[in-house]
Amino acid sequence: MTRIKLVIVPPEEFGRMASDYIANRIIDFHDRRPMNIGTATGGTMEGIYGSLIERARRDDALANALQTVNYFAMDEYVGLDGDHPQSYAYFMRSRLLEPAAVSTSRLQLPNKENVEPAPGAGGCISMYDQMMTDCGGIDLQLAGIGTNGHVAFNEPGTSRDSWTRRVLLSESTISANSRYFSDPSEVPREAYSIGIATIMRAERVVLFASGKNKASALERMIRGRPGDDCPASVLTLHPNCTVFMDWEAASKLRPY
Ligand code: GLP
Repeated sequence: MTRIKLVIVPPEEFGRMASDYIANRIIDFHDRRPMNIGTATGGTMEGIYGSLIERARRDDALANALQTVNYFAMDEYVGLDGDHPQSYAYFMRSRLLEPAAVSTSRLQLPNKENVEPAPGAGGCISMYDQMMTDCGGIDLQLAGIGTNGHVAFNEPGTSRDSWTRRVLLSESTISANSRYFSDPSEVPREAYSIGIATIMRAERVVLFASGKNKASALERMIRGRPGDDCPASVLTLHPNCTVFMDWEAASKLRPY
């Protein structure tokens, strides 16, 4: 029996309500210690971060709290440096940190130095995972979902014992993400990605999905049995996981 919470909102309200969900968690946490947030990228998160920035412009409590958060990116392409416009380092700086006037020193990403010397394969924790632990662990893990059910860059077939490591991207991910590159041949074939075990260790997980093209992946994630063929489905076993979606993404979910 799954314990996940489902929040389904009108498409036109999705960005505002999703960003309010994040903002309220950050404000509630603010007095405890610097909060650690695992951050996701992609078109869905771009809209949500945009709404979060809008709210921070008129909400001092949020603006101040955002400055004290430690941000741990879920993933990064191999071979793109941080100034490449399609790198996730650039994405996080330009879509969230700089508009919110947050120091870029608060952002960590998985990379050659913190992953390759101790890759999180075969059940071994990586240096990047250890960095999160040393900060007190991830309090809120944000996630998106790929049309093939991937989460971060954990492609179908990923073991739930995986930690942060270097991964090969699937053909469907390369083709889905080629829309961001001028030529499909420029899309990196490899990435550094946190693992499923990394995500399962977070205190709270929220996965965001909008649009009809995510409906089948969400149907598989939520209605199917948790399995490695759909890495996102394993998140339904997390004790505090919310799936936040719009009606279109939820269009293939039926009541039991
Ligand atoms: C990339 C990211 C994922 C993200 C996915 C969906 O593949 N690595 O973390 O969930 O894109 O992105 P979009 O919101 O653009 O559909």
